[in-house]
Amino acid sequence: MSVECFVTGGTGFIGQHLVAHLSAQGHTIRVLMRHPERLLALREQVRSLGGVATQVFAVAGDLERDNLGMSLADREVLRQAKIVFHLGVQFAWGLSLEQSRAVNVEGAKRVALLASEQKSRLVMIGGYMLKNHEHLQRIGIDPSCPELTNWPAVYRRVGGYEGSKLEAHFAALDVVSNEGGDVTIVHPATVCGHSRTGHILNGQPLTELIRNLVQGKLSAVPGTIEHWLPLVTVDYLVELVAVCAFDPAMAGQELLALDEQTPNLRELLTQVAQPLGLKTPKHHISLRLLKLLLSIPPVARLLNANAESLDFIQTTRFDTAALEQFANRHGIAKPDIRQALQHTATFVNSYCIGEGRAG
Ligand SMILES: NC(=O)c1ccc[n+]([C@@H]2O[C@H](COP(=O)([O-])OP(=O)(O)OC[C@H]3O[C@@H](n4cnc5c(N)ncnc54)[C@H](OP(=O)(O)O)[C@@H]3O)[C@@H](O)[C@H]2O)c1
Repeated sequence: MSVECFVTGGTGFIGQHLVAHLSAQGHTIRVLMRHPERLLALREQVRSLGGVATQVFAVAGDLERDNLGMSLADREVLRQAKIVFHLGVQFAWGLSLEQSRAVNVEGAKRVALLASEQKSRLVMIGGYMLKNHEHLQRIGIDPSCPELTNWPAVYRRVGGYEGSKLEAHFAALDVVSNEGGDVTIVHPATVCGHSRTGHILNGQPLTELIRNLVQGKLSAVPGTIEHWLPLVTVDYLVELVAVCAFDPAMAGQELLALDEQTPNLRELLTQVAQPLGLKTPKHHISLRLLKLLLSIPPVARLLNANAESLDFIQTTRFDTAALEQFANRHGIAKPDIRQALQHTATFVNSYCIGEGRAG
């Protein structure tokens, strides 16, 4: 059955794959686009990712504007949407509180209001840091009473992107609860390229890590032998997201999308280095020292890294039993993360480094 879907962030990395996946299933996808004139390019990309381009339409708008900046005519068309996928985000390191809040928090609230008002299911993409309760506690968030959070202090501690993602989660849940809406949230780990093609975009955290390794800017492994950067492949993730959206049992539920087989950071770098004929750094550098070094702007520029990104490298392990049960129940197979890493490294080396933006 073809279902009308509205997607924010459909031109982004995860969004492109989700739109391709949903359109291949026969659904009609309306994508919120700041630049609707780029619809043809998006359709082309959707086609190249295995989707059905003619099922994809643009809705001109912007998360930062009242009513998402949409025309009344588009707003009427969107009333048909049964599912609203919210993936739109301003992602960059070093964002101010004001910048990141305007898009990520206010935008999430606007999308949550739209979905709740018209009784569509809202499927939000959060992030796995929301499932790291020790980390939340450390930075001053109690998930059972988020209204007590001193948000400016959280932003100062973790930076604009992560601070706004955390605040957006609770703010959107609040809107949904006040409006009596229906929400499902998927919390991905850092997203790895497609498990078979390695497809990934420039600007993704993993692309930058691989680029730094290739360009010799990563001379030591951040953290200890215990540290890891939890990953999930983009194809596994979008399959989970799509299935969540149509599963009545997922109403009001949250799902952590993280591959617990992700190797530690040292081994991750070895997997990336291998197909490119590179050497893995032998030594480790403590995260505290690296953070200190990255607080010196010329060093951060030289190493092409930002202290904010280091929070995602951690020693916490996560309980993925619920994910395994969900994936088994729906027959979703988890790809081999090591192979996916090797394909991603090859893709980044071929299409992202020195080539500008990969499509
Ligand atoms: N990638 C990861 O490793 C990762 C991990 C955990 C969670 N997530 C979450 O997953 C979601 C998608 O991430 P992603 O990596 O696919 O993001 P991405 O590639 O950076 O794409 C961001 C998307 O948001 C859109 N956008 C940005 N500002 C907007 C605005 N003001 N109005 C409307 N649209 C706007 C962009 O549209 P334009 O084409 O106009 O720029 C683009 O489609 C986000 O919620 C992110 O926090 C990602």
